[in-house]
Amino acid sequence: MKLFDVYPLYNVTPVRAKDVYIYDENETEYLDLYGGHAVISIGHSHPHYVKKIKTQLEQLGFYSNAIQNPLQQRLADAIGEQSCLHNYELFLCSTGAEAIENALKLASFHTQRKKVIAFHKSFHGRTSAAVAVTDSPSINAPLNQQQEVTFLPFNDIEALTNTLKTKDYCAVIFEAIQGVGGLDQPSDDFVFAMESLCKKYGSCLIADEVQSGFSRTGTFFAYQKNKISPHIITMAKGMGNGFPIGGILVHPEIKSKHGMLGTTFGGNHLACCASLAVLDVLKEENIQERTIALGHYFKEKAQEIPGLKNIKGRGLMLGLEFDFEVATLRKELIYTHHIFTGGSGNKNLIRILPPLTVKEKHFDLFFEALKSALNKIREYQV
Ligand SMILES: Cc1ncc(COP(=O)(O)O)c(C=O)c1O
Repeated sequence: MKLFDVYPLYNVTPVRAKDVYIYDENETEYLDLYGGHAVISIGHSHPHYVKKIKTQLEQLGFYSNAIQNPLQQRLADAIGEQSCLHNYELFLCSTGAEAIENALKLASFHTQRKKVIAFHKSFHGRTSAAVAVTDSPSINAPLNQQQEVTFLPFNDIEALTNTLKTKDYCAVIFEAIQGVGGLDQPSDDFVFAMESLCKKYGSCLIADEVQSGFSRTGTFFAYQKNKISPHIITMAKGMGNGFPIGGILVHPEIKSKHGMLGTTFGGNHLACCASLAVLDVLKEENIQERTIALGHYFKEKAQEIPGLKNIKGRGLMLGLEFDFEVATLRKELIYTHHIFTGGSGNKNLIRILPPLTVKEKHFDLFFEALKSALNKIREYQV
């Protein structure tokens, strides 16, 4: 049987990984500055994570949401402690898109409305409502186009006011730092306006933290740079360090009802155990503070790169923008220098989303490689 061919693949076959390094079948070592789309938070195969999951698997890997699972409450308490969002409530699922579906559905139940406001260059996933609020027509099938979504630019408070005041909208969904779109951020004023206008016109504010959450940007959630209280917060990627787990945090204003949301796999024993291990390591290794210092270090070093147009993002969710398309540069980095980086909707931007255990020495290596790759590309162009 052939695989359904939807992914353009790099010709690298990892067989094992440790912390920030990946090894292929010939034991070639690759530096992972992409974390498999921001998924690897505490480093590949962290010993605490491996031990916890192994032990849990030997005891009980899975049972359904029809029985008591105390690990879910432990996870809720640990997320509450690290995010300081003690009064929010946790619903668990398995992926980012599923978290978005549940967030939008809940907003619609709560407000009894069905339209949504999303933003230019947003990415929220590929399932039904998630892809409809994603600003990418080529991945929206006719089926998805049934959803009623209005796309607005960031920072246009007037357009947001005029749209919300129709009182037709169940939700405004935003990324505090856009991931796939290319690291754009709304201004502080706009973030406060989103919060107050949603309150005024009875819509829910949804912070999509699927990529930026779990301490990647120097606060537990990226939106927490601004003191606002979204109605719903979505999370996934870094939450399980590779084990599929997602979730939403729900403001107490939104009331739960039996049967309103549900899933077979979400919140299973192994998934909770993986996420609890991630939270242990984030706390014990003081990772949130390290991401701030490392982000500064990266930005300082990036100043040395000739011809760089812009350095975007914060913490360890970073982007380097050039005045040319970076596909060839990224190939050179992976095949010659053995460094994984990411692309984005902005073809001129390299995304840097390393495991949060990355060190200064890894960035030093990266910038040496980047200079050399840039020189080689320029030689070709001459
Ligand atoms: C901000 C954001 N939201 C949602 C998603 C969808 O997550 P998943 O791929 O786990 O469905 C992504 C994936 O890249 C994302 O970056």
